[in-house]
Amino acid sequence: MHAIELRSDNAAGVAPAIVEAMVGANVGTAIAYGDDALTASLQRRVREVFEHESARVFPVTSGTAGNSLALSALCPPWGAVLCHETAHILNSEGGATSLLGGGAVMRGVPGPDFRVSADTVSAALDSVRWGDPHHSQPSVLSLTQPTDMGTVYPVAEVAALGEAVRGRGLSVHMDGARIANAIVSLGCSPAEITWRAGVDVLTLGATKNGALSSEVIVSFDDRASDELVYRTKRSGHVTSKMRFQSAQLLAYLDDDLWLRLAANSNERMAQLARGLRELGIGFVNRPDVNMLFAQVADDVATRLEEAGLLFYRIAPGLIRLVTSWQTTVDEVEQALGAFTRALR
Ligand SMILES: Cc1ncc(COP(=O)(O)O)c(C=O)c1O
Repeated sequence: MHAIELRSDNAAGVAPAIVEAMVGANVGTAIAYGDDALTASLQRRVREVFEHESARVFPVTSGTAGNSLALSALCPPWGAVLCHETAHILNSEGGATSLLGGGAVMRGVPGPDFRVSADTVSAALDSVRWGDPHHSQPSVLSLTQPTDMGTVYPVAEVAALGEAVRGRGLSVHMDGARIANAIVSLGCSPAEITWRAGVDVLTLGATKNGALSSEVIVSFDDRASDELVYRTKRSGHVTSKMRFQSAQLLAYLDDDLWLRLAANSNERMAQLARGLRELGIGFVNRPDVNMLFAQVADDVATRLEEAGLLFYRIAPGLIRLVTSWQTTVDEVEQALGAFTRALR
């Protein structure tokens, strides 16, 4: 059996249509720093796809840059960003939001299913000494959609959270590193899960789902957009050959490629989860998208590794499995065969 990639969707390659779009952009010359025709088309396309006439786009090269820049445009230096305690911005971005946010802090909030809830957010806001300069003032709620643990926020839940925090003066950011997977899983429109549900700024991921180091901040808030013009430049994200990022992002959105790629990764995960359930394996999360946290004894995990399965060990007895746009039906069948043998 050849090695089967289930470590991360980041390990997947670049989707052929996106490679072709870059090759297509590699003809002749174009003005630098995002003043090119492809970046202008991307701006128009995002407004169409998100049904928002003044949304602004800011291509960046990583999700961490997208999140920390978006949050720094929404949060004052004395502010706090509330997020779930498992959020990537809190645990896996090296404090980038605090750096770019001039010292803004992040506060982890608990919540079932790896999502913040109206109750836990409200409790966090009630515990704040508002107006007291000794305490960071909550300014933004950041929702990770889907969560780092592969669960999704239903549209109504995002809208209710948005409404609740807006009433207390907070903005809403969405970390959409895998937003296409969430949109496919929910069967909603891009507008419904973002600005119509109260999201001010979205970090729209593409790299995990077939792009090459290209993500884009989509700002639905004019004030944040005005700041992002300067913040992206000062942090080195106004790239001179932005047209190659824009070409990728345009191809990504064209003909629903982003949703088709995400549908494959979600379907392959559903196939894998079905098979593992039949083998009696327990899960820590409900695999709404392409990520599964499975309870697998360490000796079984070792046999799976020996059989050529690539995955992450998260804790003793717990492994993470992630499918991608590239995962095939056959690979999932082979993986299930390896599980069957390893459990014997
Ligand atoms: C939920 C989430 N947000 C943001 C990121 C950040 O992406 P990057 O590694 O490109 O900075 C990741 C990457 O794993 C992620 O899983």
